[in-house]
Amino acid sequence: MTTSNAIPSNLDIQSNVDLSAYNTMSLVCIADRVIDLHTEQDIEQASQILQQTTTDNSKKPSVLVLSGGSNVLLPKQLNITVLRPLLKGITVLNETTDYIDIEVMAGENWHELVVSSVNNGWFGLENLALIPGLVGASPVQNIGAYGVQLEDSLLSVKAYHLPTGVWHTISCEDCQFAYRDSLFKRQPNTWLISRVLLRLHKDPQRVSANYGDVQQVAQKHAQQHQRISIQPVDVMNAIIDIRKQKLPDPKDLPNCGSFFQNPIIAQAQFKQLQADYPDIVGYPMSDGQVKVAAGWLIEQAGLKGGGIAPILTHKNQALVLTNHAPKQASQADIQTSQQYISQTVFDKFGVLLQREPVWIDENL
Ligand code: EPU
Repeated sequence: MTTSNAIPSNLDIQSNVDLSAYNTMSLVCIADRVIDLHTEQDIEQASQILQQTTTDNSKKPSVLVLSGGSNVLLPKQLNITVLRPLLKGITVLNETTDYIDIEVMAGENWHELVVSSVNNGWFGLENLALIPGLVGASPVQNIGAYGVQLEDSLLSVKAYHLPTGVWHTISCEDCQFAYRDSLFKRQPNTWLISRVLLRLHKDPQRVSANYGDVQQVAQKHAQQHQRISIQPVDVMNAIIDIRKQKLPDPKDLPNCGSFFQNPIIAQAQFKQLQADYPDIVGYPMSDGQVKVAAGWLIEQAGLKGGGIAPILTHKNQALVLTNHAPKQASQADIQTSQQYISQTVFDKFGVLLQREPVWIDENL
């Protein structure tokens, strides 16, 4: 890191940036300053600028790390610096007949990584196809879908600790992963992830297709290609089909994926609900509690396609909130609709829904 006091001038810095195109919910948001980061050196230089422009030395610099913008709810005005990690590149570090270790830079598109890996014969990510966003954000909420989570393939994360300006290589275990949670999520805007190290396997017979209708749809894909058993490419294509059918593409209808977490409740409460609603969908957890399908609760509360305009749940998947007024709606509209949905569900089932995407305050 340079010790000079001069602010490096080769950084990609812009002022008063409209971020509505950089968050998949398409909320209006003007940021004071945005720094696009293309290399790890850019990260160090940006950190230096932030330290220099932080008036009170004891205070943490006010910064927002914005990746693909697919899991954040931005305020109308952001009086802080936004850092966008856009580093590119995929490198093979180690390969055996059974597996391959690849290092992927934070700015790579997640879905493109999934597709290229499967096409290369590197497996393990196929269930995570079509998840929006960039690779650098994937460890933050330990992205997961159809029975697989990022932690199943992750070896380590390289991240810059912004408050101290030190690089760390954090092992999968030390990332403290849980359902939609990690060390990085619990310490927001503290870590800037620059690359992730993944171990992908090469056994085309090893697939995870026991979730919902994945098996059945994957079987169709396998048959179309005269394959006797389901292969990872079939699982990937099945998941692409299923997601396309149920989840709106943010380009057509802005959204940030699942808006509510699936609530985890005590078994006794689940049994009580089951007595009144025999169709309730719940998954037993290893600790004896039950994870309830929030989409089912919202639909049964009569809110599929409902809410308070312009923020409405999706007609095919009640767990997803969609923005029908792109570039016009704001956080306040989200709040109104979220409160209405949560209250209606609580009044009917006595279950509290928690928001999944990260709410960003104006001054952090
Ligand atoms: N359901 C309804 N009505 C709805 C939606 C769902 O009755 O409107 C029922 C379904 O019929 C099913 C159950 O709820 O029986 C669960 O639905 P689904 O399998 O679609 O999964 P989910 O729990 O709604 C979670 C993740 C998704 C992930 C899918 C598949 C969370 C909060 N969401 O959704 O993640 O793709 O499982 O693994 O855990 C995301 O984070 O953006 C996301 C899409």
